[in-house]
Amino acid sequence: MKRVFSGIQPTGNLHLGNYLGAIRNWVRMQDEAECIFSVVDLHAITVAQDPATLRRGIREMVAALIAAGLDPERCILFPQSRVRVHAELAWVLMCTARVGWLNRMTQFKEKSGKDREGASVGLYTYPVLQAADILAYRATHVPVGEDQKQHLELARDIAIKFNNDFGPSFGGELFPPPEPVIEGPATRVMSLRDGSAKMSKSDPSDQSRINLTDDADTIAAKIKRAKTDPEALPSEPAGLAGRAEATNLVNLMAALTDRSIAQVLADHGGQGFGAFKPALADVMVAKLAPITARFNALKDDASAIEAICARGADRARAIAEPVLADVHRAVGFTA
Ligand code: TRP
Repeated sequence: MKRVFSGIQPTGNLHLGNYLGAIRNWVRMQDEAECIFSVVDLHAITVAQDPATLRRGIREMVAALIAAGLDPERCILFPQSRVRVHAELAWVLMCTARVGWLNRMTQFKEKSGKDREGASVGLYTYPVLQAADILAYRATHVPVGEDQKQHLELARDIAIKFNNDFGPSFGGELFPPPEPVIEGPATRVMSLRDGSAKMSKSDPSDQSRINLTDDADTIAAKIKRAKTDPEALPSEPAGLAGRAEATNLVNLMAALTDRSIAQVLADHGGQGFGAFKPALADVMVAKLAPITARFNALKDDASAIEAICARGADRARAIAEPVLADVHRAVGFTA
């Protein structure tokens, strides 16, 4: 049986990169498999967080996910900290994961930077908590970005070692090793100011990204100012080689209209950016306006959001608690 789990950090507002890269996939997967999606607030505190900002971030991320099309009736959606199994299972799995495995994690090296000694222990063990997120539900498929591939490998290694260590005495496989479902390269959304950098909420320039809260005028203005080159669009994909900014805008058009790059170029090849950019802005606005409207209507409705979180957490617990009970039996805490 196929069961999907994925997580997203409550990092303030969603942008177009989150939407086209991850969220849109999640929305699609709701209809194809049993899906469990979590706003991973336990992961968020591995780096410093202001409590009021975190609280708002969690609420807004839940609202944004619903606005983007997650249906709390068709998937399980909840903030991670509401289901204690995540933290409890993470402890047990920290005793399965090896220091040598964690020492190879490139994201810890990047995030801790020069001050490794000053990083939190939580940042170091972050990937073990991520493995617990997945394994607590015996999830089989995990949609993630390319940058999470190594963490998924680790989750598999942990599952396999746990199965080897405790499966024989338990009398069966405890965890199916989860498979990553890597987002396609076509949906890698780059900065509007620099075609070689990922669109990111932490870019100091707001011009570099399209926020899911931007109104139509803002979107049009940002696309108009997006960095490009002076040449017209080619009529075939090969003509985009070495043109990172042009590639990004064509990718965006393809993703937003569910067409291939080749199809977009067949329609728009020969056009200059003076013509292409307004066309792109139009489809972007058409796609985002309903999401923005739903987000704005929901984000300040604290009781509606609370009801979604509470019910999602209840449903998540119903799956994860029996798994943790198996783990307790397997390691010898209980008979
Ligand atoms: N680390 C993931 C990211 O930054 C978020 C995450 C936490 C996650 N737990 C997860 C993703 C479990 C997939 C499965 O994108």
